[in-house]
Amino acid sequence: MVVGAQATEVETVVIGSGPGGYVAAIRAAELGQKVTLIESGEIGGVCLNVGCIPSKALINVSHHYRDEMTEQPFGLHATGVSLDWAATQDWKQKKVVERLTGGVAMLLKKHHVDIVRGTASFNDNEQINVIEGDNHELFQFKNCIIATGSRPVQIPGFEFANRIVDSTGALSLPAVPKHLIVIGGGVIGSELGGLYLNLGAKVTIIEGLDHVLNGFDAELIKPVLDDFKAQGGEIYTSAKAKSAVQTDNGVAVTFEADGKEQTVTGDYLLVSVGRRPNTDELGLNNTNVKLDEHGLIQVDDRMATTAAHIYAIGDVTAGPALAHKASFQAKIAAAAISGDPQARDLHYSLPAVAYTNYELATTGETPESIKEKNLDAKAYKFPFAANGRALAMNAGTGFIRLISDNQSKALIGAQIVGPGASDLISELSLAIENGLTTEDISLTIHPHPTLGEAIMDAAELADGLPIHI
Ligand code: NAI
Repeated sequence: MVVGAQATEVETVVIGSGPGGYVAAIRAAELGQKVTLIESGEIGGVCLNVGCIPSKALINVSHHYRDEMTEQPFGLHATGVSLDWAATQDWKQKKVVERLTGGVAMLLKKHHVDIVRGTASFNDNEQINVIEGDNHELFQFKNCIIATGSRPVQIPGFEFANRIVDSTGALSLPAVPKHLIVIGGGVIGSELGGLYLNLGAKVTIIEGLDHVLNGFDAELIKPVLDDFKAQGGEIYTSAKAKSAVQTDNGVAVTFEADGKEQTVTGDYLLVSVGRRPNTDELGLNNTNVKLDEHGLIQVDDRMATTAAHIYAIGDVTAGPALAHKASFQAKIAAAAISGDPQARDLHYSLPAVAYTNYELATTGETPESIKEKNLDAKAYKFPFAANGRALAMNAGTGFIRLISDNQSKALIGAQIVGPGASDLISELSLAIENGLTTEDISLTIHPHPTLGEAIMDAAELADGLPIHI
């Protein structure tokens, strides 16, 4: 704790500039606050710099590459295809990441947000100290929003160094690996595993649970797993990683699966076993902010912590570590600080997407959750194989599943595996949030031919009046 120095008085301080922090800063400024944004790394945080955005850029390249390298049924024969990985990395960094983060920096400037570089920690409930190199500066704030995000979990014996990488390292490998080993088959492991598989690497996933892609059910992930395995990908479930030994050219991982100990050798090991909140070095013990046993900050439905005028959003709060959750909470916190009595988190559905080779998306209730909650609801499934646009895209694998309440016919959940799942899911979240019935969806004209028609078809199925199935 630093005491005695003169503190600069500021109105609203936001700590962290990821999809939580920068959105909070802009919205608070729009609502009339004078905002100071503190960032120790790059504007845009993990998501824009080393997470969501660069991973989607590389995944996009990997789809193109795979299409070109695979025999296609529609008579297009590509020859002489090669991948210039240095050019790919350069494009990802300059044309995607820097363009987007530059845009965010411009928006912050437009809203007169003061950006302070450095690492913030609390001295008390009203003051933070920001350290940058040998310098430090004190800020006395009226309101504060903590949006410091999360970082990858490290497991003892598998610390990130050289050939053992986290998701950040896996997005900037010097070359496409020949064999990538992945510990943790969650969203990151499955997305990045799929990406390198598409680029020709051998990929081995070692997962502790008896299934990968936890959170998406077995029926939903089946096309993803079938495709992963058809490409030569290996998955070991109920597996326990025991040790990793690095050499100059590779890393050997010993693990136990099916009661057998085995060793697999690759050129890189990605450890993606979850993320932990960045709350441990914030000096929160100097404040009234309460943490739970996982180091997550306790907040109410206005994103207010247990300390007056201190709010918290995004990965530092309970729930999934998702950028869109952080941005949503950011707007609530900004509105609450600005005195809006309506500022409350009242959402029913929090969509989640995995950018695996067949995209996965879910929102609201699932077949498991309706069973657990004993809800009077039913699931209806429409396959992309019966959708003209999907066939025209050579993408007739997967399905849309709608879950509706048997009495009111309101849509209460939806899942998608297949083309465009990440974009299609928004229509379904909109329907859930607004209490729309399947008839509301089926009576809405969906343009033809589109993937979105499959949503209308699934709704017609739920109405008992299906045309295309
Ligand atoms: P995750 O929680 O999705 O998956 C981690 C996996 O590692 C789990 O399946 C877990 O069982 C397994 N695991 C844990 N310890 C293990 C061990 N010692 N040995 C073997 N397996 C072990 O976490 P992940 O993939 O690291 O992602 C972190 C967060 O980032 C997630 O909350 C996710 O929601 C978010 N994310 C979201 C994306 C998206 O929205 N598309 C993309 C990437 C990440």
